[in-house]
Amino acid sequence: MNQPFFDRLSKTAVAPDCMLVIFGASGDLTQRLLMPALYNLASEGLLARRFSIVGIGHHPRSDEEFRGSIAEALRARVKNAKAEIDDNTLNELMNSLTYIASEFDDPKTYEHVAERLAAWSKEGGGVGNAIFYLATAPNYFGDIIERLGAAGLLQEGDNGWRRVVIEKPFGHDLASARALNRRVLQIADESQIYRIDHFLGKETVQNIMVLRFANFMFEPIWNRQHIDHVQITAAETVGVEQRGRFYDETGALRDMVPNHMFQLLAMMTMEAPNSFHADAIRAEKAKVIEAIRRLSPEDALKNVVRGQYVAGFIGGEKVAAYRDAHNVDPRSLTETYIALKLWIDNWRWMDVPFYIRTGKAMSLRRTEIVIQFKKAPGVLFRDIDDSKLSSCRLIFHIQPEEGITLQFAAKQPGRKVQFADVNMDFRYADYFKTSPSTGYETLIYDCLVGDATLFQRADNVEAGWAGVQPILDAWAIKPGDLHLYPAGSNGPAAADMLLLRDGREWLSLQ
Ligand code: BG6
Repeated sequence: MNQPFFDRLSKTAVAPDCMLVIFGASGDLTQRLLMPALYNLASEGLLARRFSIVGIGHHPRSDEEFRGSIAEALRARVKNAKAEIDDNTLNELMNSLTYIASEFDDPKTYEHVAERLAAWSKEGGGVGNAIFYLATAPNYFGDIIERLGAAGLLQEGDNGWRRVVIEKPFGHDLASARALNRRVLQIADESQIYRIDHFLGKETVQNIMVLRFANFMFEPIWNRQHIDHVQITAAETVGVEQRGRFYDETGALRDMVPNHMFQLLAMMTMEAPNSFHADAIRAEKAKVIEAIRRLSPEDALKNVVRGQYVAGFIGGEKVAAYRDAHNVDPRSLTETYIALKLWIDNWRWMDVPFYIRTGKAMSLRRTEIVIQFKKAPGVLFRDIDDSKLSSCRLIFHIQPEEGITLQFAAKQPGRKVQFADVNMDFRYADYFKTSPSTGYETLIYDCLVGDATLFQRADNVEAGWAGVQPILDAWAIKPGDLHLYPAGSNGPAAADMLLLRDGREWLSLQ
């Protein structure tokens, strides 16, 4: 059953007994994010005593070898964060871990899982709650779910609940996302499917809802009458690392925009839901994403800038060009940077431009949302150059430093009336003690307690793809120019032009 989002205020309860079956257990995601998140949940005492993890991967390994590699990765991670590992928690987590070396398309894999689940459930008096976590390459998603279904593993009843977590990317365009939804929903009920977008696990992203709906002062100005435009930036310093094969077929638009960037957009722009129930929130998010203006291929091209990084320096370190990365085509035309302008055609947002940019190998890591308010009428300050009249900004710092800044104009001291932009800053770290987090803790915990608020419903995913489909269609006819930018820069100059031609500028990344 869906529980209200704000139940999480009182969510300190231990999650129910569960067997977590991870497909893709030898992969990067499991080592880098899932296991650290499970360790953090265990440290907070939120995992049930009967919590069991079964890893499934292609690599032949014994349970002991699997535990060894996970423990080593966890220790390294905790050391990097300059924290201490708690041996008791680590040992308990390792004891709950077993491994099945098997292929995802082999029916025996599912027989093994069913046997293990039945034995574990019998031990616990018949309760066999299970989460099947698909941390695999996307081409396996549909197949694994069909095989789970065929093995009877998705049947719920007195034996407990069965849920499936699906990682991104969910499809590679609108048609494939629809097809995957159809395939999945033939086997399982929507309430069993948890489509993950890990941006929703980030504290500051959830805080957007609190800021908007728990503080009445913002609502009257949260609209086209008061807001000039909005900028959403996700700049990364990492390149494509070991993910060349996946990334070269995917590119920055598909990798970041219909999912992460649109989630930020939806949180920022959605109407207040009728309640904090998962479906009420997800319905509002779907509505606003569905309202993204559908552009013709020509207009889509005019409002999009594609970039790709060439060799450069980040933090004094030399970084090779994207085309020289492992498993990337040396003549690749895939974008590692994208900037775009879009509109939301509804009463609240009609004609307010939303500028979105995201890129790899940029000068710094920063995710932020800038809301730029309209300028005050210049009538009282006729002698002051219009461009010097500041516009107020509200800036959500999503990462790495979490916080909110309100920027406004103040008079500089002195006899002459001169303005300067000043900031009022709220930084999370100044007010709250936060526990170490990968962002996945909240999501795994929510799945364990059956709260789907922070997961994407079928219509949310499809609305996201529909929002970028005009760009994909335009590129299919004629890929836009590819603007090269040096690694360690702020992206291509053409992205600055996208705003300059509207008389606007990106908020500086420096
Ligand atoms: C992933 C993308 O979904 O999100 C990656 O596939 C990207 O390419 C990552 O680097 C960004 O997430 P975060 O949490 O590091 O900002």
